[in-house]
Amino acid sequence: MVAGRGINLGNALDTKGDGPWTGWLRPRHIDLVVAAGFDWVRLPVMWSAHADLRPPYGIDPRFLTFVDRWIDRTLANGLDVVIDMHHYDELSEATDTHADRFLALWDQIAAHYADRPGRLHFELLNEPHDPMTADGWNDLVVAALEVVRPTNPDRTVIVGPLQANAVEALPQLILPPDPHLAAGVHYYAPFRFTHQGAPWIPAADQWTGTTWGAEDEHDRVRHDLAAAATWASDHGIPLVVGEFGTYQAGEMGARARWTRCVREQAEQLGLAWAYWDLGTDFGAYDVHRDTWNEPLLQALCPPATH
Ligand code: BGC
Repeated sequence: MVAGRGINLGNALDTKGDGPWTGWLRPRHIDLVVAAGFDWVRLPVMWSAHADLRPPYGIDPRFLTFVDRWIDRTLANGLDVVIDMHHYDELSEATDTHADRFLALWDQIAAHYADRPGRLHFELLNEPHDPMTADGWNDLVVAALEVVRPTNPDRTVIVGPLQANAVEALPQLILPPDPHLAAGVHYYAPFRFTHQGAPWIPAADQWTGTTWGAEDEHDRVRHDLAAAATWASDHGIPLVVGEFGTYQAGEMGARARWTRCVREQAEQLGLAWAYWDLGTDFGAYDVHRDTWNEPLLQALCPPATH
């Protein structure tokens, strides 16, 4: 099971196109993550953009080799790695049409990584959402585990609820008995604070200037994460906060306060967490200036720990 402090290497291997696929990400960024005191990374991967649309839905071997290099480089640096299936929105939008392809992708990924160390973890799907139903998703999780478990009996598999992995959707998530399952949630509340100015959210430009930090706002974070942790302990499975973060348009002081509050509460509850993201529009690291956004780094990994 993944534990401790993590960060998402987002907007790199989770993009489309013919390559080189790495985007902003460079090997030295892994060294920076280690030096800052992080324990693990979440490596979002857009498998669906690099696989045939027809059976047997083969994954492009060049892309697979490329992902291998990033996984192995990160493991070799002592970090745990979670690979997910990112941006497979067609699966949420037309579940029946895409279910076989989803399972075939996991069949290939699971077989390919079967011999990797236990510090590599799988996450079945990033942010499943409407119109996929809770029943549809719960059934698909069972089917995916039937595909993954023969080759990876002990590997941690993370599964998140609908509504883009919202805490509120946890009660609809029904997981099969499996000692190596973990639940994953994403935390972006209040959304109009974390996503103010985000260009892909309609109306988010009207949220710019939203601040954060009142006592009742801290209480809401504590309440939400405590509810998630209670759900997990009631179900006897570990919980991971696999994404939380703020878009760059927010004021840095408020972003850092919110980030610290979520991080501290997750740690008090004993939850592993991963900030979204390292190097792009929510970035804890500014790749253009080649320096950490210090208030965010201090909120995530305060000095005593690095
Ligand atoms: C998406 C990103 C987005 C982030 C915050 C991630 O799951 O892949 O594109 O910026 O969530 O909304």
